Parts: sequence; C-alpha cells; structure tokens
Amino acid sequence: MPIQPKHLDEQFAKCYGEPPRWVVRAPGRVNLIGEHTDYNDGFVLPLAIDRAIWIALRPRDDGQVSVYSIDFNQTKEFSLDNLTDEKSGWIEYIKAVAWSLQEAGLEPSGWEGILVGDVPLGAGLSSSAALEMAAARAFAAVGNFDWDPAGMAKLGQRAENQWIGVRCGIMDQLISAAAVADHALLIDCRSLQTRPVPMPSGVAIAVLDTATSRGLVDSAYNERRSQCESAAEFFQVNALRDADLELFEQLAHELDETVKRRALHVITENDRTLQAVEAMCRGELAALGTLMNKSHQSLRDDYEVSSNALDTMVECATAHDACYGARMTGAGFGGCAVALIDASAADEFAVKIAVDYQQKTGRTPAVYVCRATAGAEIITGAGG
Ligand code: GLA
Repeated sequence: MPIQPKHLDEQFAKCYGEPPRWVVRAPGRVNLIGEHTDYNDGFVLPLAIDRAIWIALRPRDDGQVSVYSIDFNQTKEFSLDNLTDEKSGWIEYIKAVAWSLQEAGLEPSGWEGILVGDVPLGAGLSSSAALEMAAARAFAAVGNFDWDPAGMAKLGQRAENQWIGVRCGIMDQLISAAAVADHALLIDCRSLQTRPVPMPSGVAIAVLDTATSRGLVDSAYNERRSQCESAAEFFQVNALRDADLELFEQLAHELDETVKRRALHVITENDRTLQAVEAMCRGELAALGTLMNKSHQSLRDDYEVSSNALDTMVECATAHDACYGARMTGAGFGGCAVALIDASAADEFAVKIAVDYQQKTGRTPAVYVCRATAGAEIITGAGG
C-alpha cells in the first residue's frame, strides 16, 4: 500500500505540534531498457515507480539537520558547519547531498523532519537515489533554490560517487528528479536531455523482485566500467556511445574476448533503447517486448551481470501469455526484473509468476505492478 502523505502530516504534527512547512517526495525507479549504458554516455529509458521516499519538514535556523526515520525508528542529526562522514547508514545520504550542495557553492540551511519510504531497500529500485533526491528537494525548499532536475541529479550523483563511494552513473538520480507521470523518460546520458515517452495504453509494468541480494554488485560494476573505458580507448572514441556496430565489426577481432563482449552489449543496447522508444511511440508492444528480451540475453551472455535467480524470473515471466517481454533491470547480480504485460491480466500474472518462481527456486518473490509517476516534487506546503 503506497504511503499516504496525510499520515506523514499527522505524524509530524504529533512530534512538532504544528503541520509541516513542506512535504517532499522522490520516487524509486525501474529501467525499461538501456542497461549499463549510462556511464558510457549512452541512452536509458527508465520510469519512476509509485514507490517513494517522503520527508515532512520545517526550517531550523541553527544550521542543524535533524531527521527521524519512521522505517528505522531512529533520529539522526548533523551540523551543516561541520560535515563528517560517520558511515552511519541512511543519514549519510542526506549529509552527502548537503556536502554536494556546499561543493557546488550553494548554501544549504538547516531543517528538521520526518522521513518515510516504501521503496524496497537493496532491491535495485534506487532507494538511495530516491533518498538523495528527496533530500535535495528538502534543501531546495528550505533554501529557496531553483529546482533544476538535471543539475540536482548531478549533485546527487556526485554525493553518491564521492561521499557514499559508489561509482554509479546518472540514470537513477535523473529519473528520480525529472520523471513525468504516465511516461517513461528517454535520457541522453551525455547531454542530460530528456524526452518523455508516453506509456502505451493497455500495458502495465510489473517489477519482479527475485528476493536475492546483490552481493557482487560493487566490484563487478566497477570492473564493467573499466572494461568499457578500455574498449572506448581501443576504438579511439570518447565513450562507447560513439562506437557503432560497423566500427565494432571492423576492429573487434583485435580486442580481448571479454572486453569485446562488454562493448558489444553496450553498442547494441544503445540501439535497442532508441528502437524501443520508436516501438513505444507506435504502440508496437510485441516489438518492444522483443527488444526487452534481447536486452536480457545480452546482459546475461555478453555483459554477464545476470544471475540464476534473475534468469529464472525472466523465464517465468516470458512464459506467461500476458507478457510482451521481460529483462533484468538495474545493475544486476540479483534484485529485480521488469516485465511489460497486458494490463487486463496484471493480477493473474502477478499471482502466477510468484507461484512459478517459488516452485523453481524455493524463494518467495515480491511482485509490484507499477504506475509511472512524477519525479521529485513538493506535495504540500506553500514555502512562504
Ligand atoms: C545502477 C547504477 C546506474 C546504472 C545501472 C545499470 O543502477 O546506479 O547508474 O549504471 O546500475 O544500468
């Protein structure tokens, strides 16, 4: 059941004796197609899901940030005058954003509030980017900063890269900041230009959580990034975005076998993503589904970031009549798959896939049928 901001308002009033000045929200995401392309300056096609992080807050004038997390039943505080990395869990994401704002020459002010979320943690649905963008929205409200989604997403990415220490690309923060309701967003990860692509009517997006953790993901992610960089160097292009299949076919025989397959994935995935946009615009659902299936095969065989659990989940999904296509989504090695399904069969699909997956793996999955929602926003509060 998605969180209702009204409950957060009530909780805030109980704690602080008055309604919050603002309630902000930033969503998690699922990526339809365009995987491991963002850090290659390529194209991605994610959408924001109806699972989000919410913060109800009011300003403080003593340079302190104090936040109570309902989910962790914990209050954490820090001073904006002296940001220190205490490696202390969820509050570090908020601190990281404050640090990034300061590094960008903005002067964030203090606030206090209550945080709650329903983006599953560690499932690959970008709960961290959602928290970063909710924090950015909170600081922007208190400091009266302009909300420039691409600029804020870059600040969030910097926070994640340099404070948290995860070398992610721009996709997660940018979709959380800039999503458009009922649309997926084509993002050009070089220019950061975005183009909303309407969700075709009659389809639903199912997020299929394999209930497996993404243990290997950090080291393998960094290794994939380095392999892509060396491929780009080999092809003498700035990033793999600038290589096409023709160049690949001319030169790839001289490339290390593994690096060659990594490059092939990125080059073909960029193409598939642009084709997927065309298919969506024309309402060609079968074609869109086929592109998703091919993306999964490429991630499994050439990029090698899938897992048995993800492959099994995708097999269960694609075996169902209501499914146009399915693939792993996010960094891989566990976490979630995404399926494009016939909306009229969504409930039946969700039940059947859960049973099939459980029978095959012994694990109980979570299945969410999602709506594409708007990006980070102020839900209540005039800000005056
Ligand atoms: C993670 C990263 C993103 C992106 C995906 C793979 O979610 O945070 O930047 O690289 O993996 O597409």
